[in-house]
Amino acid sequence: MGQPTVYIETYGCQMNVSDSELMLGKLASAGYTPVDGPEGADVILVNTCAIRDHAEQRVIGRLGELKRHMRKGSVMGVTGCMAQRLGPQLLEKAKHVSLVIGPDGYRALPQLVESARHGERAILTSFDLEEHYEDFTPRRFDRVKAWIPVQRGCDYRCTYCIVPTTRGSERSRRLDDVVRETAGVVAEGMSEVVLLGQTVNSYNDGTHDFADLLRAVGSVDGIRRVRYTSPHPNDFSERVIQAMAEVPTVCEHVHLPMQSGSSRMLKRMLRRYTREGYLQCVERIRAAIPNVSLTTDIIVGFPGETDEEFEETLSAVREVGFMDAFTFIFSPRDGTPATRLPAELSVPAEVAGERLQRLVETVRSATRERNMTLLGTRHEVLVEREAKRGEAMLMSRTRDFKTVLVPGDATMLGQYLTVEITGTTGSTFTGSVVRERQPLPMAG
Ligand code: SAH
Ligand code: SF4
Ligand code: F3S
Repeated sequence: MGQPTVYIETYGCQMNVSDSELMLGKLASAGYTPVDGPEGADVILVNTCAIRDHAEQRVIGRLGELKRHMRKGSVMGVTGCMAQRLGPQLLEKAKHVSLVIGPDGYRALPQLVESARHGERAILTSFDLEEHYEDFTPRRFDRVKAWIPVQRGCDYRCTYCIVPTTRGSERSRRLDDVVRETAGVVAEGMSEVVLLGQTVNSYNDGTHDFADLLRAVGSVDGIRRVRYTSPHPNDFSERVIQAMAEVPTVCEHVHLPMQSGSSRMLKRMLRRYTREGYLQCVERIRAAIPNVSLTTDIIVGFPGETDEEFEETLSAVREVGFMDAFTFIFSPRDGTPATRLPAELSVPAEVAGERLQRLVETVRSATRERNMTLLGTRHEVLVEREAKRGEAMLMSRTRDFKTVLVPGDATMLGQYLTVEITGTTGSTFTGSVVRERQPLPMAG
């Protein structure tokens, strides 16, 4: 008998991806061998997301499918935000699931998995405000860029959002620990890090704020690109913006969730800024970092959203000129304040669907127009992965987060190239390689 195997499937945000890497690392150090597929794995973990109903339905369906791959003695566990939210209900719903573990419970994984392999079922959904899994060694899926959690939980209470319920209160890792992890990933050959937190720019470890963190991480030897996600508009202090502008390794891209362009909707969402406040934040960032590109998240069909208010979202989208936007139809989440709004305020599904369609069109047409003007320009890209297996095309990114497909093979992963933009599909680009490698890190 060889070592037991573990397969993990991940849904949701980058924080979940990072948590999966920590879980896999923990189990690997306890003697489990990670495998790429569920077939016959001794342990199958599904790390879940609860952000929208659709996300949860997908997982419920997937749990049923994965059952086929279990053999006698194998164990299935559900982790992450749905596990936290549903707890015992999951054990009832899915009889073949024997473990339910929330985001702060992964330290207990090896023991719980062990007892599950002996037939026990367990639920662990308590929060632990000290928990950062500092002593875990993550087993990273990505070999080019490293996800680095710097903050867990969220202290905002946006009325539509389940995250404060599933991830508990905000806490930050110590700056020294983040810097140490960053130096570690450089030693493994990576040069890009993405700092993660739900409102990552509110980072504060008691001594240092997010500006300090950007400066410290950005000056780790060998780091060439620093990104972070997601910041909250209200936490963009001058210090943070200055740090972003001054540290050459911090990339010229901000993912800045707007949610709505209507102040009345923003108030009802408890976003704690107005349309004007958001646009000012954009102005301040642009003034300090002129070539910055912005992406965003937007919700349509929030209770009570009128046609006029939706138009305000469209006009804000045009005004800012986002490079891209993740767009969602409001999904009511049990227990969130938005579910207590009067039922007559709910926006009919057809109306919300049409709004989403128009929003997507608005984002796309602006992007397409702007992208056409980039044909023939040159950019530094980092090769992140193969575009599609066996097609000899690579997916690379510019510093400001544009996707460029370039010809090449797997040996070029992790390389920095200069490319000339030769075409655009509207949202992504194709490019040709101008020079194989940049001479030195950080030109500029
Ligand atoms: N912490 C991040 C967001 C995390 S959730 C932030 O504050 O920016 C990612 C996105 O999902 C949100 O920005 C929001 O646009 C969307 N979202 C969250 N809850 C939602 C809900 N109930 N219905 C629809 N979209 C939602
Ligand atoms: Fe959710 Fe708002 Fe916190 Fe983001 S800031 S995780 S949207 S509550
Ligand atoms: Fe989903 Fe939890 Fe992330 S709800 S978006 S996996 S924090």
